[in-house]
Amino acid sequence: MSIHDFGSAATRMVSQAARRVLPATFAALAAAIGPPPAGAADSKLVERGKYLVTIASCTDCHTPGHFLGKPDRTRHLGGSEVGFEVPGLGVFYGPNLTPDEATGLGRWSERDIVTAIRTGKRPDGRTLAPIMPWPALAELTELDARAIAAYLKNLPPVRNKVPGPFGPGEAPTSFVMKIVAPAKQ
Ligand code: HEC
Repeated sequence: MSIHDFGSAATRMVSQAARRVLPATFAALAAAIGPPPAGAADSKLVERGKYLVTIASCTDCHTPGHFLGKPDRTRHLGGSEVGFEVPGLGVFYGPNLTPDEATGLGRWSERDIVTAIRTGKRPDGRTLAPIMPWPALAELTELDARAIAAYLKNLPPVRNKVPGPFGPGEAPTSFVMKIVAPAKQ
């Protein structure tokens, strides 16, 4: 074997070894580093989510002050102090949708959020009262629902625990919107 042949055999061996080892190395590296940082694609998704949350009026029911005529923009989507009475079911306040760990959706995954808005199921198994319009939001496409979840996860966290929910017969501790029967003529 000439020195030239030996050289190319060695190169072959090295490149074969590299082919075997490198993918494993990259897989290990990717696992160690975690998901890629929010890039251009993600920011597009978040923008879409912001647009959808605005036109679907999530902001109205989930932002403090909105129903009192003074939405508190410093606590955007931080939960409402005005609850809805659903006859026979109780009184429900639009919860804090910001990623605060203790009072918001900080411990929910984006998948948990998608499931809640499309099926009404919370991670603890409770079904959301239908004043939260999940039966309509069930019509969202998977991508649009994911965009909403991505946007909510990117909000600045707000610390605010909404009251309730209160069952029928329990006394609500904050404002309530209710359906009032007409006075008898
Ligand atoms: C008409 C008022 C209203 C609108 C509009 C509304 N929500 Fe809600 N939402 C509620 C209420 C009230 C609850 C609490 C229901 C319950 O506890 O059973 C709720 C619950 C939720 C929850 C569950 C949070 C938790 O901590 O349990 C999520 C997530 C949510 N809404 C997201 C949204 C998004 C996203 C939109 C817009 C696409 C939206 N909501 C629009 C009133 C509303």
